[in-house]
Amino acid sequence: MNHFLDIHKTDAQDLQAIIAQAAQMKQARQGRPKGALDDTQPLAGHMVALIFEKPSTRTRVSFDVGVRQMGGQTMVLSGKDMQLGHGETIADTARVLSRYVDLIMIRTFDETVLMEMSEYATVPVINGLTDRTHPCQIMADILTYEEHRGSIKGKKVVWAGDGNNVCASFLHAAGQFGFDLTFTGPSQLDPEDEFVALARKMGSTISIERDPVKAVTGADLVVADTWVSMHDSQSSKERRHNMLRGYQVNDALMAHAKSDALFMHCLPAHREEEVTSSVMDGPQSVIFDEAENRLHAQKAVMRWCLGL
Ligand code: CP
Ligand code: NVA
Repeated sequence: MNHFLDIHKTDAQDLQAIIAQAAQMKQARQGRPKGALDDTQPLAGHMVALIFEKPSTRTRVSFDVGVRQMGGQTMVLSGKDMQLGHGETIADTARVLSRYVDLIMIRTFDETVLMEMSEYATVPVINGLTDRTHPCQIMADILTYEEHRGSIKGKKVVWAGDGNNVCASFLHAAGQFGFDLTFTGPSQLDPEDEFVALARKMGSTISIERDPVKAVTGADLVVADTWVSMHDSQSSKERRHNMLRGYQVNDALMAHAKSDALFMHCLPAHREEEVTSSVMDGPQSVIFDEAENRLHAQKAVMRWCLGL
């Protein structure tokens, strides 16, 4: 069964094929209304459950639109309105949903929920973000980088700020797509050792550099994310901001990257905190292409999951 649980758990050649299909499907839709059906409707007759235990704008809308463009149907479910994990076990929910739907996408807190869902579901399960990883985001980011600058292989990517769930999936992608990644942030917020070690084992050069200027020097791509993720307590906000203030991506920092470096952020962003509006809205920013590419990348992910 083709679950899409994490970048490092998916075959590298399959990842490349998904990106290529996403680019081709995006191209085929140029100039069409958003609601128009794709020429081929690979998901015709298919029902997809989209489960959210955390808020979402991009993931919710891009999956929903993507399924519909491919001729399928969706149901968007809120975890708190389901029996998920409190009225019954995750395993039982997985078994039941598998009798109704052909594909499950879930955004949850603890990764064990995703794992249990995928273990007991008899249909493919897609990770729509957990506290630890966000693989669909990184598929969109690779698609975005490559449509602007060509292959990401061998490029220098710099992650500035918190070594969080999105950073973790970037580390996985470094191994699978063959780019180098430099993390710059305070030691308290380093990415998990396990993820760093895995990327290194796969042959990528992974650097930890406390000085953001040194880190960004020579970068092909600079990436930021919120300093307080949905799973972080609001009471930690002030402490995190104090630790991270020196890692804001602003024009002065971007000036140390290559002159044709791109800037990415998965969004939602907190303007003037982790990144300034001048960078977000500036010529190097591709943040809204990333958001659009969630749609195209995930359509290809869903086709891969279903073998369609
Ligand atoms: N980037 C992302 O996953 O956005 P949402 O939280 O809006 O889905
Ligand atoms: N790191 C962020 C990503 C949101 C898409 C979070 O988990 O809240």
